[in-house]
Amino acid sequence: MALRNGPDEFGLVTRVLHWGMMLLVIAMLALGMRLQDMQPGLANLWLYSLHKTLGFLVLTLILARIGWHLASPPPRPIGPPGPAQWAARAAHWALYLLLIVIPLTGWAGSSATGIDVMIADRWTVPPLVAPSEAAEIFWFGLHGILTKVLLGLIVLHMLAALKREMDGDGTLTRMLRGRV
Ligand code: HEM
Repeated sequence: MALRNGPDEFGLVTRVLHWGMMLLVIAMLALGMRLQDMQPGLANLWLYSLHKTLGFLVLTLILARIGWHLASPPPRPIGPPGPAQWAARAAHWALYLLLIVIPLTGWAGSSATGIDVMIADRWTVPPLVAPSEAAEIFWFGLHGILTKVLLGLIVLHMLAALKREMDGDGTLTRMLRGRV
């Protein structure tokens, strides 16, 4: 089983990153929506802390994924080049971009509260912005909007993959098993 991608094959590293991140991001969207309905307090502080720690994990993994994409380019797209392939490419890059910008806006909003932003309640990261209520509202507002855009894109991405699989082109099989 190849670790690297081949001209017609997804290697194990790409597939583990793809499915692992999918689960992580869906869990983060659900957790974030729960936090939105809560009043922060001692009893639920650990949920905020978990959300922040996993958010930093997403940021690290997406940067690693882009690095891996450059080090081991993905296989040729299936099917003829055309608008569907460009749309798929644009959606993939939009997903990568959102997975960088969303953690950064969460980090900025958390910095704006004036409370130390920590990873695993252990390592303090530097604040991205100075504390202010206006900045907190702005960055968390943007965080919320971008997560809705992300959710929409994930649904489109899943529907497109399912449709192509039902049309018999093997796109989904290739991300599951490596090759068609
Ligand atoms: C891919 C990574 C992330 C995803 C998918 C995500 C998702 C979400 C979602 C869906 C919400 C609810 C937003 C709303 O409905 O308005 C939320 C809220 C929140 N996020 Fe994130 N988040 C991520 C990363 C981060 C990071 C890195 C931090 C901080 C370091 C963070 C801090 C917060 C906080 C504190 C809230 C609650 C905001 C409030 O109470 O207004 N998030 N997140």
